[in-house]
Amino acid sequence: MGSNGTAIDLSTKYCGIKYPNPFVLASAPPTAYGSMIKRAFSLGWGGAVVKTLKPDDMEIVDVTPRFTTLKSNSGENIGFENMELVTKRPLSVWLKEIGEIKEEYPERVLIASMMADVRRESWQRLAKAAEEAGADALELNLSCPHGMPEKGIGAAVGQKPELTRMITSWVKDVARIPVIVKLTPNVTDIEPIAEAALEGGADGVAAINTVESMMGVDLDTLVPLPSVGGFSGYGGYSGSAVKPIGLRVVSQLAKTSLLPISGIGGISSWEHAVEYMLLGASNVQICTAVMLKGYGIINDLLKGLENYLVRKGFNSTQELIGLSLPRIIAHSDLDRSNLLKAEVKQEWCINCGLCVTVCQDAGYGAIAFSSNKTLVIDQEKCDGCSLCTHVCRRKALVMVPNEC
Ligand SMILES: Cc1cc2nc3c(=O)[nH]c(=O)nc-3n(C[C@H](O)[C@H](O)[C@H](O)COP(=O)(O)O)c2cc1C
Repeated sequence: MGSNGTAIDLSTKYCGIKYPNPFVLASAPPTAYGSMIKRAFSLGWGGAVVKTLKPDDMEIVDVTPRFTTLKSNSGENIGFENMELVTKRPLSVWLKEIGEIKEEYPERVLIASMMADVRRESWQRLAKAAEEAGADALELNLSCPHGMPEKGIGAAVGQKPELTRMITSWVKDVARIPVIVKLTPNVTDIEPIAEAALEGGADGVAAINTVESMMGVDLDTLVPLPSVGGFSGYGGYSGSAVKPIGLRVVSQLAKTSLLPISGIGGISSWEHAVEYMLLGASNVQICTAVMLKGYGIINDLLKGLENYLVRKGFNSTQELIGLSLPRIIAHSDLDRSNLLKAEVKQEWCINCGLCVTVCQDAGYGAIAFSSNKTLVIDQEKCDGCSLCTHVCRRKALVMVPNEC
């Protein structure tokens, strides 16, 4: 129950469309077939963006392998790089499946992602076909950072305001359903691109697509990763590692653009989804977490969100949107009077000495061992940077108000 005594309302509205819950599968392998989307809907996903559609005369041949990952010391995949292209499946097959999905799940939101060469007819043909097939909205993929830009499409379009404006307006000329522009983070400034989407008539923006990346190099073969027959190329980075970039872009858009936002990038838990909504997203899209753990994560997402809303006294998901935005201010306006200092909780410290090392080598030389091997912090020297609290795995260092 919400604070007003009624059941918690998990639904949200984005571009005038009601989503039963804010969790949407992003355009990617988890939405590669209609049968997969139906299975995801049966498990509770609120919406799905189909794997990007393309004109039939655009040939798509994927490389293998096309994925590589960044692992944490404990072996968890914390970053994911892909060099995958758009759908390889014929448009007619997709159109039939879009109709079938909507017939079976009329209340779930189905969005047709699309990408075409830079010709009015190509975009308009795709848009009209997807709309007639029953899609609830169109998402223009102006943001894929690999493969497609070499052909002058994908991020090559979304990095230029004039092309973004032009293609959006072509689609708006024929579409009656909402048109969403999916933005690339691979730009110096996101604002002119969002502005161009608005001028082109877009109803909403989605951000972010993947971050252009180079995962690493095999030190035995000297080939960059992933090796595709002994060579590699730049890919698109996603998963946990890109969440801070996604949150930055979404909050900048929310502060500067009039368009509603679908938040994407590194979301794998309900907490991440709430963060995106607090920073201005009306719904969230998820790809990599599903690729690594499957559709079943929806159970924890739904339960976690509902419990959070109850615990915080909210009645609906929609109440979260943008609540944290006023807390983002200019760096020059941040408080400089409330100095914090590091303090050690001796009962948690195991004397590993890492905080001493980093404070000496990258801090202010404020932490040392006393003669009886306990940590002491020189409050005069401590500058309050907080580095020690981040390297301590035991949480033995905390920041406290300066008592001087
Ligand atoms: C393997 C893979 C394929 C993708 N294919 C598409 C695509 O066809 N169209 C698109 O708009 N985005 C595509 N994306 C990008 C995702 O939709 C999403 O924007 C990005 O992965 C960030 O979200 P995440 O961190 O939840 O994965 C793809 C991502 C991955 C990992």
